Amino acid sequence: MLDFAIRVAEEAGRLLRDRVGTTIDIGLKGDINIVTDVDLASERLIREAIASHYPRHQVLGEEGGLADSGSDYRWVVDPLDGTTNFAHGFPMFAVSIALEYKSQTILGVVYDPMRDELFAAERGAGATLNRRPIRVSKTAELTRSLLSTGFPYDIRTSSLNNLDHWKNFAMNAQALRRIGSAALDLCYVACGRFDGFWELNLGAWDSAAGALMVEEAGGLVTDFSGQPFSNYEPETLASNGLIHQPMMQVLALAKPSA
Ligand code: IPD
Ligand code: CA
Ligand code: CA
Repeated sequence: MLDFAIRVAEEAGRLLRDRVGTTIDIGLKGDINIVTDVDLASERLIREAIASHYPRHQVLGEEGGLADSGSDYRWVVDPLDGTTNFAHGFPMFAVSIALEYKSQTILGVVYDPMRDELFAAERGAGATLNRRPIRVSKTAELTRSLLSTGFPYDIRTSSLNNLDHWKNFAMNAQALRRIGSAALDLCYVACGRFDGFWELNLGAWDSAAGALMVEEAGGLVTDFSGQPFSNYEPETLASNGLIHQPMMQVLALAKPSA
């Protein structure tokens, strides 16, 4: 099934690469949350491949929602993670495909077609980048750490907009980045390019594959208070493990708001 997921992610990724910079149809899901015809075409390609190989499996895709067949297997799909980047021709986006068995992620694949980088992980078997094993970084101090995050689409209206955490981390880390693809953020933690990542309100399709990647590369993924991570809960905190406690301390600085 990992080989299948890799093949499909690469095929969908080629579709994205071929369309970047061409004319795309852009629709609005919210004030600043867009969807393009390419998101939809990529999800269609992935759903059709799953339906023909694993017709009984459930599929949860960002654009099409959940097709619940009652199976213990569920594919969790983001057909284009980094849609805003894609629509602007900013070359930082990916396809993310994970497979859950009885609610636990058992494999994950993230493909970045612009760099031809394929991240893959299987529970208990490690994580790879272009088939070579990857490990998280060894940075042990927050002040030497490069961190990444993202902001929710309801940033203008919700008080849980991450701006408080952004400010607090800016004062405690070496530097912060906002690359615009949560799946790649997590893969970059897995391969040591980032030392840590946090975000609020991700969808399961954003985080499922990348979170497994971090764990299988020797890192840690929890909620903001160190409790076990779930694809379906709002808080994602991923790190190399060494800076996890300091990151939790910074996250605790912000007052909880309604
Ligand atoms: C978004 C990206 C972004 C993150 C948002 C996600 P999309 O996914 O992963 O980095 O900050 O929360 O929704 O909409 O481009 O698939
Ligand atoms: Ca996404
Ligand atoms: Ca998406």
